[in-house]
Amino acid sequence: MFVREDLPEPRPITSMPGVVQHSRESLVAAARDAVQLGVGGLMLFAVPAHRDESGSGAIDPDGPLNSAVREVVAEVGSDIVVMADLCLDEFTSHGHCGLVDEHGHVNNDATLKQYQLMGVELAKAGVHVVATSGMMDGQVGAVRAALDDAGFAESTAIMAYSAKYASAFYGPFRDAVESTLAGDRNGYQQDPANRVEATREVELDLAEGADMVMVKPGLPYLDVLADIAARSDVPVAAYQVSGEYSMIEAAAANGWIDRDLAVMESLISLRRAGATMVLSYYAAEVAGWLRDRSRSM
Ligand code: PBG
Repeated sequence: MFVREDLPEPRPITSMPGVVQHSRESLVAAARDAVQLGVGGLMLFAVPAHRDESGSGAIDPDGPLNSAVREVVAEVGSDIVVMADLCLDEFTSHGHCGLVDEHGHVNNDATLKQYQLMGVELAKAGVHVVATSGMMDGQVGAVRAALDDAGFAESTAIMAYSAKYASAFYGPFRDAVESTLAGDRNGYQQDPANRVEATREVELDLAEGADMVMVKPGLPYLDVLADIAARSDVPVAAYQVSGEYSMIEAAAANGWIDRDLAVMESLISLRRAGATMVLSYYAAEVAGWLRDRSRSM
């Protein structure tokens, strides 16, 4: 779910029909609805009104993500798992997931320090799970150590975006968060042609203390998902990303596929490949279908 700073009303995202940038009020209302529908967890992303070189909004306790987490946790924190994306790209003026040096290159180790601060602020705001999505080397271990030092050893878990590919399917998400990225993320996200690197990334994240691992995108990477599911001794998540959502919506809007069947089939394929959790922009809607189905049985 996306929350945009300084928004009086929810605003549609053109490339993701049916998904909105929430206002603070509508986010809390949507979180309440999700609980009613039986969704297991919420993943929050913020769209800041101001961005700077270091992404300082991410570590400001009153920044848009930390505030949203605080409000959602206060409202539904005992009924649903509240998760937040731990990455700088929404907060930096250049749109990269990390801090960039004078040559425009992402500085991995300087970024880790910023992630540690961000993780601790999210934990203080009450988040249950931080989802490290920036693909910096060592990010899970660094954030885990910072959380432990700050007293969140027991209360805050880490979902590692372990196998996160440099994918064209994130296109609509970048509209959703009004991304300023000019180049690409090929320097830190994974090469779509490389299958075995995903296994190495997962093993590193597990060794660094990840409580859950994720494969992303979903549908174009079912082989990777199956590999990881076979090896992981922690829950494995699959993320049905924005482009997967928008493809279904666009085809359905043209009458080219049966929308609801395609939604269900795409989600089932992720389960079949071994995902124990699925992140999807369809979560609330599909939870409603499943609830209605179980009631009618
Ligand atoms: C990084 C992040 C991205 C997505 C989730 N977390 C963007 C990226 O890596 O470029 C993409 C999710 C989607 O496409 O639905 N904050």
